[in-house]
Amino acid sequence: MRKLLLLSLVSLLILSASALTTAQDDDMSFDCGTDEEVTINYFGDPVGSHPEAEAATIERFMELCPNITVELNTGAASVTDLLGFYLQAFEAESSDLDVIRVDVIWPGQLAEHLIDLSGIAPQEHIDAQLPALIANNTIDGELVALPLRIGFGMLYYRADLLEKYEFEAPPATWEELEAMAATIQEGERAEGNDEFWGFVWQGNAYEGLTTNALEWHVSETGDNFLTADGEILTNNEAAIAAYERAASWVDTISPPGVVSYAEEDARGVWHAGNAAFMRNWPYAYVTSTESEDIPAFGVAPLPAGEAGIGAAALGGWHIGVSRYSDHPEAAAAFAIYMTSVENQKFYSIDTSSPPAALELYDDPDIQEAMPFASPDVVEITTARPSNFARAQYNAVSTLYFEAVHSILTGEEDADVAMELLELDLEDLFSE
Ligand code: GLC
Repeated sequence: MRKLLLLSLVSLLILSASALTTAQDDDMSFDCGTDEEVTINYFGDPVGSHPEAEAATIERFMELCPNITVELNTGAASVTDLLGFYLQAFEAESSDLDVIRVDVIWPGQLAEHLIDLSGIAPQEHIDAQLPALIANNTIDGELVALPLRIGFGMLYYRADLLEKYEFEAPPATWEELEAMAATIQEGERAEGNDEFWGFVWQGNAYEGLTTNALEWHVSETGDNFLTADGEILTNNEAAIAAYERAASWVDTISPPGVVSYAEEDARGVWHAGNAAFMRNWPYAYVTSTESEDIPAFGVAPLPAGEAGIGAAALGGWHIGVSRYSDHPEAAAAFAIYMTSVENQKFYSIDTSSPPAALELYDDPDIQEAMPFASPDVVEITTARPSNFARAQYNAVSTLYFEAVHSILTGEEDADVAMELLELDLEDLFSE
């Protein structure tokens, strides 16, 4: 995995830039879906860290389609809460939501509430996206969301501190990370920074913990916790060791409060210059370059465990249109514009998040803005088991992150928590 990531980076660097479809051609033929004056509600970025990227998208769209006003609504910061909000609105068949952001794990969960965009979006628009993402978003033959961007778990490290403490490279294994984090933390505290921590990540009981825990699990066991065929692999020695290891970080190299951290909490500590390492998604890259408290940083694949591999969970966001929208044509036009190659380029650079459109990986501006991006990411990262679990994915993930959380907080022994989780997952799928 580590090698693959590096290889793909190298092959990316030697790829020559190919010409982009010109924005003008797209503009001239852009179909706004309706001539009527309408207002649609778009539910935007749940993390809320790059609101300007969404506002700029809306502005560009409204220049093309001045009859359509798009209202930007910021979603809940936690994707678990955001899903709860969507489901409640959808159950009530509310027309308040026209366009929503769809997490890469939600197509199967939300399919019944989203319109099929396959006959609406131009075929060349669909063909421009990474095929694996189109496959992910196609449920029973219906394309329920258009891909916008990719995310994957990565390790941010303070390059200046690695140098100061004479470490030559970022950690390749969890053991190395633990040792480096402890040394740097001890040194920085001795110099008077009491708030300094070795490693920050996402330990709250929510979807973000599912992604962190999946990475620990895969790096330690070599497998997903629930395979593509529905095999449950949570209750074994290697998996238990992975969660026990993470629990040992709490209040040693990681703050005690990490068990209630989401992405933005980790980013806050990191941006204040108070962490040596952070696990986060690509969106934190651009803001890290802007932080005055971070003299120098780098990004690397997440460390390997006993299985000899590092693992990165696949994340990312897609755009869907509600079946209960009163303005589906206008809503679809906005979804199509937002995911167009033209807009993805702006949006990816503004958010330092790898695009969904394949040709953009050859674009020198994209390569410069996110040197870690590779179109192979979808293949080399680990997907959460949403394609198997479909509408039960949220139930699976909730059982999983609650079990892992109980280990992190010391509420439950890891072997008991994993035995109970196995039984709960078996029950869920036998219903
Ligand atoms: C990021 C990822 C998304 C994931 C979420 C978890 O937003 O892109 O896929 O579910 O983090 O917090």
